Amino acid sequence: MDLTKLTAVQRKVINKNYKICVIGAGHVGLVSAACFSELGYRVICVDNDTNKIKSLKKKILPFYEPGLDSIVIKNINKGNLVFTSALEQSIKKADVIFIVVGTPSLADGSADLTSIENVARTIARNLNSYKLIVEKSTVPVQTGSKVKETIYRYRKNNTEFDIASNPEFLREGKAIYDFFHPDRIVIGVEHDRAEMILKSLYASIKAPIVVTDINTSELIKHASNSFLATKISFINAVAHICDLAGANVKEVALGMGLDKRIGKEFLNAGLGYGGFCFPKDLEAFIYISKKLGYDFKLLQEVKKINDEQRRYLVDKIKEHLWVLKNKKIAILGLSFKPDTDDMRFAPSIDIVSSLLDEGACIKAYDPQSNSEAKKVFGNRKIEFAKNAYTAVKNCDCVCILTEWEEFKKVDFSKFKKLMHYPLIADGRNMFDKKQVEASGFKYIGLGT
Ligand code: UGA
Repeated sequence: MDLTKLTAVQRKVINKNYKICVIGAGHVGLVSAACFSELGYRVICVDNDTNKIKSLKKKILPFYEPGLDSIVIKNINKGNLVFTSALEQSIKKADVIFIVVGTPSLADGSADLTSIENVARTIARNLNSYKLIVEKSTVPVQTGSKVKETIYRYRKNNTEFDIASNPEFLREGKAIYDFFHPDRIVIGVEHDRAEMILKSLYASIKAPIVVTDINTSELIKHASNSFLATKISFINAVAHICDLAGANVKEVALGMGLDKRIGKEFLNAGLGYGGFCFPKDLEAFIYISKKLGYDFKLLQEVKKINDEQRRYLVDKIKEHLWVLKNKKIAILGLSFKPDTDDMRFAPSIDIVSSLLDEGACIKAYDPQSNSEAKKVFGNRKIEFAKNAYTAVKNCDCVCILTEWEEFKKVDFSKFKKLMHYPLIADGRNMFDKKQVEASGFKYIGLGT
């Protein structure tokens, strides 16, 4: 590489002597900011939520993500990571800007891109030197060109910039591992210099890099999340057939998954997907496809199967207990998946609400999200327990909605002594039906 031909920013990148600005301290934003600082870069993480920034400055994290706190604390102390609400100054100081603001769903399913547009305008007005502007938020295809248009429209002079797309594939609960060990890094660019900056930024991470144009990169993210959601709804549909035919979906999934072309990941039948990514991204992909002229009926069906899965478990419990009014039901697990306190679009919200609507009494326990759940359920009558054993005391049914590791270790004989009636509704197919039944329980699974 001929260093003399490099721009000032490219030279800074190679020397790690440049500043990254991450706009948005949500799950992806905060993890990315912390992990880039851990790689040795100087990172400014900006958010307009001043309370969140105040807490972060005091090293208090806004959500639970295993391992994130130690990386944040270490890099604040080192001076590599700073938090602020001063967006304009942060833009001016930065060489590379990652846009990681929220893109929530609107009522029609489309992604609300207001925050992205606001940020693009603010970047334009504060473009004081060449900057690489990277979209990391999940956005519909063609958002990059809109960001570019916006910056051209509002910039005050002819300062150069590049736009790039670099979607993030990290999972909540495993976000730190995923950042440092991704299956691939996707880079959507228009110019070699943007490609070179992003490649050098990720140089110390071992992963295949897919370099493509911006539209394709944006589509890779929506298509990936939608494909994973499709796998989940497919196996949940198969679970229904298993129930009807007397087969076992776990074994069907094993037999399918060993075929390398299918793969065994994302074939766990259960309550379906939740969280802030799949439901929102699927809606947005259906919407943008329609806008472009394609009716994505397959994904509409994926969503329908997912929505119905929650009611399916409630109906099965009802079949066993007949009348739910005044029945005591213990809920184990509230977050949308283990290792997170995230309750957004969690199956537990619909299931607990349906059970309460039928007059059941709910005692709930989650290892991390009891306090988040209190906010979500507001003044609905739910008793929160301190552990699984206090939750199941005097209950007619224990209902498992999140497959937390600690639930795998529960003592069923102790449960049986504490419960009124030994019924377990295993919404995540965590347990072996025969073993649970051998300990004197009635077992409800999904396709098992
Ligand atoms: C998902 C993707 O896996 C990430 O690659 C992506 O970066 C992220 O969305 C995003 O777009 O930001 P996440 O929502 O954290 O990550 O959770 P996953 O671990 O993918 O699980 C999603 C949902 O599917 C959960 O509700 C989980 O319980 C459910 N699931 C997963 C199943 O029901 N069955 C399975 O076999 C696997």
